[in-house]
Amino acid sequence: MKASSANGQAGSWPLAHHRGALVPKQQATLPMGSIALRYGVSVFEGIRLYRQDSGGVVPWLLGPHLDRLRNSCRLMGLDPLCCDEVPSIIDELVAAQEIDADGYVRVAVSAANVGGIDEEAETALTVTIAPSGRKRWLARGEGIRLGVSAWQRPSDAVFPNAAKNISAYAGPRLALAEAKRAGFDSCVLRTAEGLISEAPTATVFLVEEGTRIITPRLDDHVLPGVTRAWVLATARALGYQAVSDAVTEQRLAAAEEVVLCGTGLEFGPVRSVAGRELSGWPVFPVTTALVDAYFDQVRGRAPATAVDWASASGRAR
Ligand SMILES: Cc1ncc(COP(=O)(O)O)c(C=O)c1O
Repeated sequence: MKASSANGQAGSWPLAHHRGALVPKQQATLPMGSIALRYGVSVFEGIRLYRQDSGGVVPWLLGPHLDRLRNSCRLMGLDPLCCDEVPSIIDELVAAQEIDADGYVRVAVSAANVGGIDEEAETALTVTIAPSGRKRWLARGEGIRLGVSAWQRPSDAVFPNAAKNISAYAGPRLALAEAKRAGFDSCVLRTAEGLISEAPTATVFLVEEGTRIITPRLDDHVLPGVTRAWVLATARALGYQAVSDAVTEQRLAAAEEVVLCGTGLEFGPVRSVAGRELSGWPVFPVTTALVDAYFDQVRGRAPATAVDWASASGRAR
């Protein structure tokens, strides 16, 4: 069952930890009548597993991901207790499949019982790991052609943006499909006020005047991203000014550098916004400094940036 490894990619890892047992991934299923499938109640996390220079693999920023998962559970009326088991389950999956390459851990807490809309949810915990190396943006130095969607992310009065719940992806999925049909690689969605919010599965950052790094505010309907908090703190540690602020389409298109970031994507430098090539492309010194710091840390070559996770997630407010 040992997965072969080349360039951080590997063969398939067939096991899931589902409802307390190791099973083949195809057997990790929920009934059609479950609250998860009828009403879209299933919260999840994506966590990167990075191969260390010293050997072995380590889940990157596991603690902050689990804190966000617990918070997602609470926001969606799910018992967060099962989240405590996740670290040992990841270890079990790594050992059982002899995983020794970069991967992507998906942890889901789902309302697994069959029931009506007003019924209390019973949770099922599912953890899988898939091989996952660099996407083509970092692997081949390609730049993302970014569209600015007319689709909006909901305000917190419509849906709690801090809940990483599957239903929150249905609208952004439509926005991405529309952007791809229009010839873009990805897109950013807006707030109801027309400000830039974020991409379907990633945070957006921009660089102004070579030193100022900006990302939309938590109040601009974004998911409190783990990578977002890491970038803000690391940029400051590198001597840049890094703040959250209101971002208009004009401001985004006028930036020297724009980069999408998130656990799955890692970093996706943007070459154009709504068809306009960015002034800095393809020389992105600030993005390059962040990407270098990121891979030094995830591989265990440098200590992880100290981040105030509570305030970064908005939970300290
Ligand atoms: C909607 C959304 N925004 C932002 C992100 C980036 O968040 P993180 O850095 O915590 O992976 C993700 C990825 O999980 C996401 O799904």
